[in-house]
Order: sequence, then structure tokens, then C-alpha cells
Amino acid sequence: MDSALIHFPPMGVYETLFKFLDATGKYMGTEGTHPWAQGFPLTTPIPGGPDIPTSISFTHTDLKYPPATGGKELLEAIRDYYNHFYGSSITTDNVAIFAGGRPGIYTTLAFLKPEFRVLIEETEYTPYWDALKLLGRDHAIIPSNPYNRFRPSLSDYQGFAAPSFVVKSNPCNPTGVTWRGETLKQLVDFCKEEGRGGLFDEAYEFFQTGEPDSAMRYVGDIDKTNLFVVSAATKGLQAPGLRVGWVVASKQNIELFRNFSSIAMGGVARPSQICTAGLLQLQRAKQAREAIGAFYGSQRARYGEALTELGFELFTGDGGFYHWGRLPGGLTADEFNERLFKHEAAILPGTLCDMFRRGSASPLASFVRFSFGPLKQESFDSDVAILRAALG
Ligand SMILES: Cc1ncc(COP(=O)(O)O)c(C=O)c1O
Repeated sequence: MDSALIHFPPMGVYETLFKFLDATGKYMGTEGTHPWAQGFPLTTPIPGGPDIPTSISFTHTDLKYPPATGGKELLEAIRDYYNHFYGSSITTDNVAIFAGGRPGIYTTLAFLKPEFRVLIEETEYTPYWDALKLLGRDHAIIPSNPYNRFRPSLSDYQGFAAPSFVVKSNPCNPTGVTWRGETLKQLVDFCKEEGRGGLFDEAYEFFQTGEPDSAMRYVGDIDKTNLFVVSAATKGLQAPGLRVGWVVASKQNIELFRNFSSIAMGGVARPSQICTAGLLQLQRAKQAREAIGAFYGSQRARYGEALTELGFELFTGDGGFYHWGRLPGGLTADEFNERLFKHEAAILPGTLCDMFRRGSASPLASFVRFSFGPLKQESFDSDVAILRAALG
């Protein structure tokens, strides 16, 4: 019988995972594979980093329904985190808890009033495209391509009339380009103008060169804005499996998310919330921010040198845990993956980050996103040997 549901394919990253499974008979990320297509961090302690819990204690009370608003300890931990590190002045009423970063992003887009036109960069985080398509959202593309070296500027945004709503990963997945300091402040100010708003997806906040920056440093009175700052336990706290994310926004907007939670989500798992609150304790968070920045910064540098030496033209910024670049010799990313599959390795083809989704006609067809997020220091030499062999 025909399905009663509207058909839609999985998000692009999963497409690569399924191709990998077909070619190798293995799930990418399992022992012996080289998961350079995947966006997860190490879930084991990194050099200089804090311990990562492997057990958690909770009581019978925690097995009751969680509050739709989010649990007190996590709401307070998130409030304290932003107020301490970025000098904001939010309260727990400015925070909504979701089961990861993506649900927070999707929900924001789902409830955005239709007159707000989404402004999104041409090269961005894969599922933004799926979300915009599924939700039928009108959007305009901000150029981010080889011609501007994937570094759009504020003036690219200013050309679009209000009402508009910026959706942006910062640091950017896949490019690593990061808006910080005065440039970030200017973009935040732009999103604070009458008739404008913006979602800053800060999943990679800890993965910056130098002290992490955040839109939260520049929001001022968030209750007077339509700013949404999204983050999660997924990357910097090294715990994607907890499935905890959050959105910081005006009290008025957060109340809507809480109403939504009561209708369609029923809150988020208590054990996960308790664990995340512990991960965010200020001393621990400070240590994690420093260690993640240093460790992944050094990984970015050494893989950057190796990829350049192998002939890649890199465009990587100084954030995130990906390298973003063009393959040598006119090779396409799909061809390169076919070669890598033989070594149980894979990259993410650049076309999956193309918000125009032009497929093989895309200027990104020979671009790859190489993830060093899940890689231990020790795998460097064998990783480079595989890359070299696949380039032939
Ligand atoms: C830019 C960006 N935002 C958000 C996320 C959040 O992921 P999750 O829904 O797994 O918390 C990711 C993970 O890949 C990401 O790369």
C-alpha cells in the first residue's frame, strides 16, 4: 500500500553514511572506519580537558514527567554560563530546552511568521536546507562561494529589506569561517533592528581560535529582540548522545517554545538534563573551553598543512572541526569518496552544503568537508597515508 505520509529523504550527511554502508558493509564511525564525513567530537577526555562522566545518578522523582519548561538545574546552569562568560543578563525565563540543537532550530523556523524572509548563506549546515524545504520557507541566499572565499560580509545582508531573519552557523559548518568581535557585534546589531531577527547557531562555540566569542556578548536586553542563540551539549561538551540542546531568546519567544513543548515534546529526558547541568558548571566549562580550543586548534593546523601539501586548496576559517577545500586535479567529491570507501574512509561532499542544491552542477562539486572532530591525535599518519593513496 502507498504510504499515507509525504515522502522525504534523510538529511545529506546520512546519505553519505548509507552509501558508505553499501560500499563497505560497515557503519561509519565503528571500529576500523575513518569517519571524516561525520560531525561528532571525541567523547573521551582530550588533552588538558575535564573528565567526561560515564554514569549519572537520579531519583524516582526524576522518572516523573519533566517540566515542559526544562529542569531548574539545567536552566540555571545555562543562565549562569552565558552571564558569566559573556556578561549577558538573562534569566531562566530566557531559556528553552530541546532534545539537541536541531530540534531547537527546526522549531524556531516552524513558528517564524511567514512575512519574515530567511537570509541564509550559500554554503551552510546541510539540514538547514531540508528544514527550509520541509517548512516551505521563503528564503534569500547570501553569496558564500569560492569568489568571496566563503567570507560574506555584513553588506551582503544589508541589501535585503525587512522583515528578514538571519539563520547562520557561527563558527560555520562546513567552512569554519567565524564572525567574532566587532564584525559579530555588527551582525547582531543588524538582527536587532526593527523588523529583523536572527538565529545564531553556536554549536561550535568552543572550537574557536582564541577565547570563544558568542552573539550573547552583544545581545544587550534580549527581551527587546528577536534573536535566538542556539547551542547544545553535542560538540563542545562532547556529549552528542545526551541529546540536549537549548535556545536563548526573549521571554515572550521562550514562552511559545514552552507551550510547544507541552503540546508536542513533553520536555526532555531528566537524566540527560541533570548530566548536562553538571557538564556546564563554570569551572569545568572554563577548562573545557580552553582545552577544546587548544586541542582542536592544533588538529586544525596539522591537518591543514597535510591537506595543503597533498594539493587541496583550503578555504577553512579558524573555527569548528572541519577543513573545507577544493580537491586537486578537478576530482569531484563523489569520485573521491568512491576511492576512499576502499579504505573504509569518507568525506562529506561539498554539494550537500550547497543551499541552492545544484548537485553535480554546483561550484561546490569538487569541494569536500573533512572532519577531524572524531579523530584522536594518534591517527594522523594513517589518515594522511589514506588521503595520499586515494589521490593516487
Ligand atoms: C551547525 C550545527 N548546528 C547544530 C548541530 C546540532 O546537532 P544536534 O542536533 O546533534 O545537537 C550541529 C551538529 O552537527 C551542527 O553542525
